[in-house]
Amino acid sequence: MSVHSEIKKITTETLKKMKGNGTKISMLTAYDFTSAKMIDAGGVDAILVGDSAANVMAGFETTLPITLDHMIYHAQSVVRGTQRALIVVDMPFGSYQSDPKRALKSAVKIMKETQASALKLEGGKEIAKCIKKIIDAGIPVMGHLGLTPQSINQFGSYKIRAKAEEEANKLIEDALLLEKLGCFAIVLEKIPAALAKKVTERLSIPTIGIGAGVECDGQVLVYQDMVGMNKGFAPKFLRQYLDLHTEITNAVSQYVQDVKTKNFPNENESY
Ligand code: KIV
Repeated sequence: MSVHSEIKKITTETLKKMKGNGTKISMLTAYDFTSAKMIDAGGVDAILVGDSAANVMAGFETTLPITLDHMIYHAQSVVRGTQRALIVVDMPFGSYQSDPKRALKSAVKIMKETQASALKLEGGKEIAKCIKKIIDAGIPVMGHLGLTPQSINQFGSYKIRAKAEEEANKLIEDALLLEKLGCFAIVLEKIPAALAKKVTERLSIPTIGIGAGVECDGQVLVYQDMVGMNKGFAPKFLRQYLDLHTEITNAVSQYVQDVKTKNFPNENESY
């Protein structure tokens, strides 16, 4: 049974109210219909159709190769599987950074073709004009600061960000700017917990942390990571709630054995 009895769609306003009354926000990624159905039934507040689909679904090393059309396909599948959670879609690398007009065109395409409720863009000051253009068109935007995987080639690694004072100060300035531009929430990825706490206290919009400590207004994880499908991926911030890699490979082995030994299908499973 689902944890929510009456289905009331979560909106960006709901998330802002949750910060106001101290209710923590839960968010998970989803890229497909079946997972979205399970995640929504579990009562998560928001679903992120993350560009991490490039890693998790397609096996790329980085999030850079995923295209606008790929993101739209994933988002359409998630929207069809979701009744309650707010759906936020990542704008992929290259679809918004070049200029505000291009950013708006990409944003409108996602919104028109998916019926998702909001978009997420990585970066601060450098993409301020693009964010403003999208928000001015009536599209809710979630910011993303700290470790922004689309900039991996600049960072050189997926290590924690903003440990040094200069980078931490820039992150605070960027967070305040994103709030001023009208973002409804900000993801803080892999930064010191003390810095995330400081940012969270300074902002009136919610912060959603991933590897950013418990004082953020909410938390997000990649679904396949939290259910243990991604064997060998065990960063410090990740809590694995299941070991589905083992469960699924054992089930597959059993199925293979049953087929080979003619134990499957049995009479009840035949017409
Ligand atoms: O794409 C993604 O999964 C993300 C989360 C890690 C926040 O951006």
